[in-house]
Amino acid sequence: MALLELRGVTKTFSGVVAVNAVDATLEAGEILGVIGPNGAGKTTLFNLISGFDRPQSGHILLGGHDITGLPMVQVARRGLVRTFQRSLPFESMSVLENVLVAGYAFEASGPRHFARRWLGINNDESTSRAQAHELLELAGLGARANSMAGALPQGDRRRLEIARALMCRPRILLVDEPAAGLYGQEVEMLTALLKRLRAQGQAVVIIEHDLAMIMGMCDRIIVLDHGVKIAEGAPAEIQHNEAVIAAYIGRAKENA
Ligand SMILES: Nc1ncnc2c1ncn2[C@@H]1O[C@H](COP(=O)(O)OP(=O)(O)OP(=O)(O)O)[C@@H](O)[C@H]1O
Ligand SMILES: [Mg+2]
Repeated sequence: MALLELRGVTKTFSGVVAVNAVDATLEAGEILGVIGPNGAGKTTLFNLISGFDRPQSGHILLGGHDITGLPMVQVARRGLVRTFQRSLPFESMSVLENVLVAGYAFEASGPRHFARRWLGINNDESTSRAQAHELLELAGLGARANSMAGALPQGDRRRLEIARALMCRPRILLVDEPAAGLYGQEVEMLTALLKRLRAQGQAVVIIEHDLAMIMGMCDRIIVLDHGVKIAEGAPAEIQHNEAVIAAYIGRAKENA
């Protein structure tokens, strides 16, 4: 059984089929790339998987359980978390506080939190701090823990955003264009972080326009065009796929 499975997932916006009967699977410890021209439906697909929006038809199964239409917190609780295409940290908080806040927000919505409050137990402050420090190390931000988030360079911000999402201890992390606007070493540090997650057995789904990054990192890639999955395979197969090349050239012409 796949860790995540999409069956015929479809979303329409006033006549435009943004995601059209998409089938896909994801295994534990895998990095799956989602590529396609602008407007192909990639972010919409993430919205549907993460519970930010609901599909008109089709099913989404997480660990064999149907999570279709569940709200985002419930999906996060079951181990699937996403980052947003444009997201900002709390600028006037430290890097460490940004990660802690993400953890509190997650914990505070869970049943364990209510049970603890009722019992007057509040002993996980130090556990959360230890976990936050551990995640900052993992993200290569250990030395930045006490810096103001607003003072971080772009590349560090993106990794902070991922560290925040990891406070939910996800089995699956969805990242939407994490490398947009990043260059050289920043892209390498981001890639290294995502590979470390894979090495720990976490699965990653990444939307990215940086094809060199995608090709170098992903185990498998799916390609969307006008909401339809037009190809799926290993990076080497996708690079030479006629339909994929045609879709990218076609869109370049449409946009010219
Ligand atoms: N909330 C919405 N209301 C109406 N149409 C929408 C909405 N969200 C997305 N769309 C439309 O759905 C289609 C897919 O958009 P989506 O944002 O998923 O594309 P994308 O592949 O993420 O593109 P990009 O690479 O530019 O981020 C587009 O035609 C878009 O205009
Ligand atoms: Mg998008």
